[in-house]
Amino acid sequence: MQHGNAAAFVADLLSRMTLEEKIGQLCQYVGPGIDALTAGELATQDPSLDTGDNLPQYRDLTLRDILRMVEAGEIGSFLSCYDPGETEVLQRRASKSRLAIPLLFGVDAIHGHGMYKGGATVFPTPLSLAAGFSAELVYRVARATARETHAAGAHWTFWPNVDVTRDPRWGRMGETFGESVALVSELGAATVRGLQGDGIDGVEIAACAKHFAAGGTPENGVNFAPMDVSERTLREVYLEPFRVAVNAGVRTFMAAHNEVNGVPCHGNSWLLRSVLRDEWEFEGFVVSDWTDISRLHTLHRVAETESAAQELALDAGVEMHMHGPGFFDSIVAAVHEGRVEEARVDEAAARILRLKYELGLFETTSPSSHPDQDRTAAAEDGDSNNIALRFPEHDELALESARRCPVLLTNDGVLPIAAGSVVVTGPNADNQTLLGDWAAHQPDENVTTIVDGLETVGTDVSVRHVPCEQAYHISDDTIACAVDAARKASVAVVAVGDNSLRGAGEDRTCGENLDRSELELHGRQNDLLRAIAETGTPLVVVIVSGRALICDWVYANANAVLYAFEPGARGGQAIAEILLGRTNPSGRLPVTIPRSVGHIPQYHDHPDASYFRTYKDADPTPWFPFGHGLSYTTFEYADLEASVEDLDSATVGVTVTNTGSRDGEHVMCAYIRDCFASVTRPVRRLAGFSRITLPAGASKRVDLPISRTRFELVDTSLRRVVEPGEFELTVGELRTVVRVSTKSGAMPRTGSDPEWTASPRRAR
Ligand code: BGC
Repeated sequence: MQHGNAAAFVADLLSRMTLEEKIGQLCQYVGPGIDALTAGELATQDPSLDTGDNLPQYRDLTLRDILRMVEAGEIGSFLSCYDPGETEVLQRRASKSRLAIPLLFGVDAIHGHGMYKGGATVFPTPLSLAAGFSAELVYRVARATARETHAAGAHWTFWPNVDVTRDPRWGRMGETFGESVALVSELGAATVRGLQGDGIDGVEIAACAKHFAAGGTPENGVNFAPMDVSERTLREVYLEPFRVAVNAGVRTFMAAHNEVNGVPCHGNSWLLRSVLRDEWEFEGFVVSDWTDISRLHTLHRVAETESAAQELALDAGVEMHMHGPGFFDSIVAAVHEGRVEEARVDEAAARILRLKYELGLFETTSPSSHPDQDRTAAAEDGDSNNIALRFPEHDELALESARRCPVLLTNDGVLPIAAGSVVVTGPNADNQTLLGDWAAHQPDENVTTIVDGLETVGTDVSVRHVPCEQAYHISDDTIACAVDAARKASVAVVAVGDNSLRGAGEDRTCGENLDRSELELHGRQNDLLRAIAETGTPLVVVIVSGRALICDWVYANANAVLYAFEPGARGGQAIAEILLGRTNPSGRLPVTIPRSVGHIPQYHDHPDASYFRTYKDADPTPWFPFGHGLSYTTFEYADLEASVEDLDSATVGVTVTNTGSRDGEHVMCAYIRDCFASVTRPVRRLAGFSRITLPAGASKRVDLPISRTRFELVDTSLRRVVEPGEFELTVGELRTVVRVSTKSGAMPRTGSDPEWTASPRRAR
């Protein structure tokens, strides 16, 4: 980060800018697809801007127009320029503008710079990482993502997605850290710190907390759909990870597609100003989501014209418009005609310019010497537009993180596979679906599929692969072939699930705008599985998916189920290691797997009354609860003790023993329950977690930190308080009750209070 007097620098720059130049800073466009080559060809031809979306209003825009606008200072930022050659061309053009203000490049690098086709390290998706329950791991993945994104010429990523998600019908669950406020908040903060770097090793990119707010549990599970929720729940659940992200120093926010309680987020001054700025004192800027400002007019109908929509969004607190023309002209006219004050434009531009200054973008004298051009750190393959970004140490991290994420849901003893012959098949056995959403097709040699993994790791077994079509197209021939191979094998491994890959066309079933009304395995996957099961050969099912699928037949009948989520480019190796017993599974579910679609929303921190009465026609319990995950060894807990004298350093301690015969990593989770309170409280709520490594037979004392916020509730006056009384803390089967008392009752959000007393009790 650039130190020095940012405020003075920005004030001086602003004083020299025209109104148009200031508004230009607020305008972001999608990468036009201009590299050094096409830039040269533009002298003779002028193709239209391909926005990748059917947006009629942009059809007349050509690439020369884009370059002209950059040079005129009418564009301040681009998104999705994945080609480093393109950032260079555009930055060079910006350096010719009157004040030579550099462009800010933003990308969607949400688990590695996966949209980069030249080959980046693709880590497990955020939901998969959440199954690893390790803020330290997420920090390192974010740091590695920052380094590769930075090396590709970008300054900013639209990550973390800190939506609390309780509806697996929503296709974007895989982009999030799941259903728990504590897990989402802590992993979100780790992401922010990892991306922004805290000044470490000179690599810093800006993070973006999105989507503000509450789009993760939309009505009917459909992206963009309304969210109607009390302000109390909004503050306690959906806004909380965003508040934590502000405290972690996040530089930018992105507004959400949806409306909250009838007010679209892009025009919601209560959210963007009262809460974000006034209460939380956020100093960065807010970017709109893709063309959502226009949607205030075209979709939500809270503005009568497009221009009115642009004015409404700017006034409500959006600073940067993603993407396209319209905004520039509307705001210029609105200032001239007195509907928007120039001071608001100044404020918005200043926030953006300050980030550019603090990222060091003004320090460079020529585009090729920008601090982000540290590509010598990455191996070049000779083509300046196709630089291989995969740092070797990141590949190791991709494998390490992939080993920690898969969750073993069931196992009748068939796993780990000891010896014999393995047949492997299924739509996700031998392709890149392991990468998840926000990843382009990667060079094949960079991705270890499940088949590759079994063939490499399975030195003691013979592996036969039966190729399989994508789920909707599984043929009778494939089923017959798989059945035949299964009859001759000692175990069948079938990789099923979803396909989140961008570019998978009709086969894509998960990811952005891929919401579903039912959550069984789609297409002919169950036909394949049942036919294989009928052979009597033990059936191991590996599920690759970015959401919590409800696979009734599989959960009831398979001999073992490994829920791999989307474990990234080295996922196939990690899965093979787990299946063959080289790695002991240690992931835990970061989301509940509901019993049926009719049970949604189903989540661990529900109030007591949720299941006071039950269904006439169904078991009210989930298929698998939040936090579930088996191992090949066993862990036992003893001597639970809580220390809550000072809520700013509260802990729950427990002695863990690995009582099985294998070494293993283990995730410990502590849950809290506020026994009696002025508002209803969850039956239990994740309060702290820690990942440890324990050899067979070994014991360890572990103190799990419990943040003060886990004791807090939002009361009916919308204050965050700790109400005095008893709190129950549990780790596994052990529980203890502690008493927290204070004279005043309502406690301030921060700061320690000497009047706290607590009486820890031994576990009963
Ligand atoms: C998504 C955002 C994303 C943006 C830019 C939108 O469709 O909702 O999460 O950052 O596109 O690619």
